[in-house]
Amino acid sequence: MSNAPLYDTIGATYSVTRRTEPRIAARIWAALGEARTVLNVGAGTGSYEPPGRSVTAVEPSALMRAQRPAGAAPPVAAVAESLPFEDRSFDAAMAVSTIHHWPDPVAGLREMRRVARRVVVFSHDTSQSGWLHRFWLTRDYLPEVAGLVAGRPLLTELAGAIGARLEPVLVPWDCADGFFEAYWRRPEAYLDERVRRGISVWARVGPEVEQRAVRRLRDDLATGRWAERNRELLALEAAELGLRLLVG
Ligand SMILES: C[S@@+](CC[C@H](N)C(=O)[O-])C[C@H]1O[C@@H](n2cnc3c(N)ncnc32)[C@H](O)[C@@H]1O
Repeated sequence: MSNAPLYDTIGATYSVTRRTEPRIAARIWAALGEARTVLNVGAGTGSYEPPGRSVTAVEPSALMRAQRPAGAAPPVAAVAESLPFEDRSFDAAMAVSTIHHWPDPVAGLREMRRVARRVVVFSHDTSQSGWLHRFWLTRDYLPEVAGLVAGRPLLTELAGAIGARLEPVLVPWDCADGFFEAYWRRPEAYLDERVRRGISVWARVGPEVEQRAVRRLRDDLATGRWAERNRELLALEAAELGLRLLVG
């Protein structure tokens, strides 16, 4: 089973706010090393696919496949847990902002390991206690995110399963890719429906929780309470919010 139905429902406006963030792309592409053939798993609309290399894309959602730009690698309809490729078919396999959607991420990573010599994954790490308090959005407005990760394997466990290492990735204050943590210094962005529709967390917590969180954030921005609580962030250029590259 995959989460393709979720993205077939929520993916229609993905490319409005989700695109390649060049500073994170540079990290991912450096981690790919000299790889000439690259498999992109959970490829979506093609963000982060490296130029100048031969890319093969795997994407289970038809709606996401349909939004790939002209000229992007034609996508294969498949899931990470069962990759339709021979052993060692690729120099490297990458997966960006997707493993939290995989029903069985250990199986998916083992498949990437089977078909490629190098594995590069971009995801978030919840293995440190207190991770919920690392980001004001989960700490003060959306503690329900804890329920979304409950029972899922930790990123440290996933890295261990394929003998990979983890490297921190800071989120720049003006991050171009509108993922969940991207607007940590631009809180008004979360009031924008188009921004939220590009972030699966908001769909997964459900409309009541979403509306409550947005209402509280709007109030706190209006009264100055958000600024009072998060004053120190305004001086930062980049933030450590638990995003990691898994490289193995
Ligand atoms: C947040 S999007 C990320 C897309 C792209 N990698 C990017 O960085 O913009 C997550 C993608 O994972 C895909 N996905 C969900 N379950 C999957 C699975 N089991 N195997 C592979 N991809 C999956 C979804 O269809 C969706 O396109």
